[in-house]
Amino acid sequence: MTKAGEKFVIALDGGSGTGKSTTAKIVAKTLGITYLDTGAMYRAVTLAALEKGLPPEEGPAMDDLLKNLTLGFDSENHVLINGVSRESEIRGMKVSSNVSFYCALPSVRAALTEQQREIGKKQSCILDGRDIGTVVFPDAKYKFFMVTDVEVRAQRRYKELLEKGEKVTLEEVLNNLVERDRLDSSRANAPLKKADDAIEIDTTHISIQQQVQKILDYVGVVA
Ligand code: DC
Repeated sequence: MTKAGEKFVIALDGGSGTGKSTTAKIVAKTLGITYLDTGAMYRAVTLAALEKGLPPEEGPAMDDLLKNLTLGFDSENHVLINGVSRESEIRGMKVSSNVSFYCALPSVRAALTEQQREIGKKQSCILDGRDIGTVVFPDAKYKFFMVTDVEVRAQRRYKELLEKGEKVTLEEVLNNLVERDRLDSSRANAPLKKADDAIEIDTTHISIQQQVQKILDYVGVVA
């Protein structure tokens, strides 16, 4: 239980396409707290690096990119890169196929982890990602870890991409999810991993509303 007015962090981790961001957005709105989509931040760095032709390698060029990149979010939670919304590009397959290489770089993780902590320290916040409960906010008051059958995740992501007009096949989407989770779980630095004290939520057979309700039941803000 959380008292009204008390500042707290909710860490929501899990693999790609488990429904974290949809759930986190609704929880944030219901509780009147900030939502931070940390995956969007890694996607934004990836897009910026690809546009500059930078390979996923450490070095002065990557340091320079990170130093000169200002990330923000608009009122709809769309990521802003140097003030410009790049939402549709960061969600496309090009970024999805490359993000796991860029997000494994220690310099990228250090820069974004610091920004995420700054935001989370200032206000009550729900952050979704891969390492929120293990690395970014290991002392978060609430930690959840979402798991979903991979076929269900691929179907959901495929539908989303088709609705956005992207030309992809279900097989490409499924392969990307499996490969991204493999790379994200096996990297040395802040891998995708359930924190020992996180509550696991299997979202394979439950609706978004039920996922949201499970989290709200644990947090249960009281006046
Ligand atoms: O949540 P998403 O699928 O938009 O995340 C995109 C990628 O960013 C994902 O493949 C792994 C990486 N990521 C990460 O390494 N750490 C986070 N806290 C969030 C995302």
